[in-house]
Amino acid sequence: MKPILIDAHSHVNFNGYKKDADEVIRRAFDQGVAMLAVGSQLSTSERAVDYAERYDGIWAVIGLHPIHLFEQFVDEEEIQFKSRAEEFDPDAYRALAKRSKKVVAIGECGLDYYRLPDGVSQTEVAAKQKEVFRAQLDLSLELGLPIMIHCREAHADVAEILEEYAAAGKSVRGDIHCFTGTVAEAERYLKLGFYISFTGVITFPPRAADRAKGSPLDEVLRTVPLDKLLVETDCPYLAPVPQRGKRNEPAFVRYVAEYAAKVKGVPFEEFAAQTLKNTKQLFSLM
Ligand code: NI
Repeated sequence: MKPILIDAHSHVNFNGYKKDADEVIRRAFDQGVAMLAVGSQLSTSERAVDYAERYDGIWAVIGLHPIHLFEQFVDEEEIQFKSRAEEFDPDAYRALAKRSKKVVAIGECGLDYYRLPDGVSQTEVAAKQKEVFRAQLDLSLELGLPIMIHCREAHADVAEILEEYAAAGKSVRGDIHCFTGTVAEAERYLKLGFYISFTGVITFPPRAADRAKGSPLDEVLRTVPLDKLLVETDCPYLAPVPQRGKRNEPAFVRYVAEYAAKVKGVPFEEFAAQTLKNTKQLFSLM
């Protein structure tokens, strides 16, 4: 297929699409949307590779999400689940990466200080998350793949770790997925050469306090150069307006792109072409 857009972060490999994944994928392709299927632990990473092998127009990202380091209850936009604890096994992920040429990045991995498990101290959780994040950064460098970072309420620590790698001459490439931080935080990542990826969160109306000046993320969108910007859905979560509240899917990345293009004052076609180019470049997609 020849895509118009690439959803740079989807979870079509998740259980939420167990019954109709193939239809959801077809719907995206029919609208010119290709996608990266992103794993959150070994089982979903394996499934991401299966989809990538099965479909032209899907590539896989494999890694261990910070919420899966401890067992915990997660409520994600009305989708509730109990996360299973997993020890990061670099050998298993290395072997999976070597199994398919369509594994294009390591992730999603990173730090999440927002959703913390019960009965474990925040210090212990943060230490574990940092250790596993570093292990995945090391694996990405070893394999020559970019990293796809999940970060929630932990930008200072993520940026510090990336800056430490850069200072040591280890040039990590990658993107910050579902960026919802500040302009200053985005600028810190941009300085490291990172791409910034936006979800449907940018389409959500601003909080009452911000209503007069617009969403704070509009300001971030205007700050990120067009050649460093990616669009994604993070489906099944975070469906953009006007689909908000429904199960999200890759085809809806169009709404994210339309909104972002408008804020940047760029025609949709130009915006789509540039973000497509960015995604292909960062993940070396063929
Ligand atoms: Ni995700």
